[in-house]
Amino acid sequence: MAILATADPGAKAAASRSLAKAWNEGAMALGQAVPPSRPARPERPSLRPPKEMPKRRAFGSPAGRVALLHALAHIELNAIDLGWDLVARFSGAGLPGGFFDDWVAVAAEEACHFELLAGRLADFGARYGDLAAHDGLWEAAAATADDLLARLAVVPLVLEARGLDVTPEMAARLERVGDAESAAILRCIYRDEIRHVSVGLRWFDRLCRARGLVPAAVFHERVRRCFKGDLKPPFNREARAAAGFPAHYYEPLAAGAVKFGRPVTAPPRTRGCGEHQTDEKPPSPV
Ligand SMILES: [Fe+2]
Ligand SMILES: [Fe+2]
Repeated sequence: MAILATADPGAKAAASRSLAKAWNEGAMALGQAVPPSRPARPERPSLRPPKEMPKRRAFGSPAGRVALLHALAHIELNAIDLGWDLVARFSGAGLPGGFFDDWVAVAAEEACHFELLAGRLADFGARYGDLAAHDGLWEAAAATADDLLARLAVVPLVLEARGLDVTPEMAARLERVGDAESAAILRCIYRDEIRHVSVGLRWFDRLCRARGLVPAAVFHERVRRCFKGDLKPPFNREARAAAGFPAHYYEPLAAGAVKFGRPVTAPPRTRGCGEHQTDEKPPSPV
């Protein structure tokens, strides 16, 4: 809770790592709290609607790479808050202790990702806050605040899984322009994100089965209801498989997917479940 209320990004990341350490040492007990509807954020960057974000420049110029690293740092900062929001929001839901162990570990890794990217920005003489950022990422949290299965479907299994699809190409492009250091950071994040998707899937499946539900069917229903738009192929099937995420969950939701000879279209959405696909701008390896 204190982390969600911390606006300074460096302090938020450092507090995340220390809290996770205390949690792992058994020095923390699970309390019950209602997290804020929006976590505290610094005055900069200014947050803009996705449509108003400038097109990212090519990676060949330092300015283009700063824009990419800044966009990714913003995603990771959101990911830190998403991790702690999940822990706090569902602390009273009677979940097993392992659930909280897993998501505390995820939040701490998101903090490391933010710090890696912020460090790389500093190598370019830049810092988080220098550029505008996308103000759509918290919508996934808001739209799924009262439904744990929807939260798990949309955050780790749509957004983080989308990060697996786009990160290898971004890392390869960075390498092609000679920025091996930034590429190495992206590959490190990528390896962790495979685990985050795997944690998401494991808990999603387990919670569905505990309620006598068929996980893939629930996934389809929640994503159609709570996520705006189709999933965007091509999928990184190899990385998704490494996370234990089977294709029959996500393939039927892909843009252009065909079911019984007709395109699969999402049913009308319920109010409150209207977030965008955050890979548009920027990509989302959270
Ligand atoms: Fe993540
Ligand atoms: Fe991350």
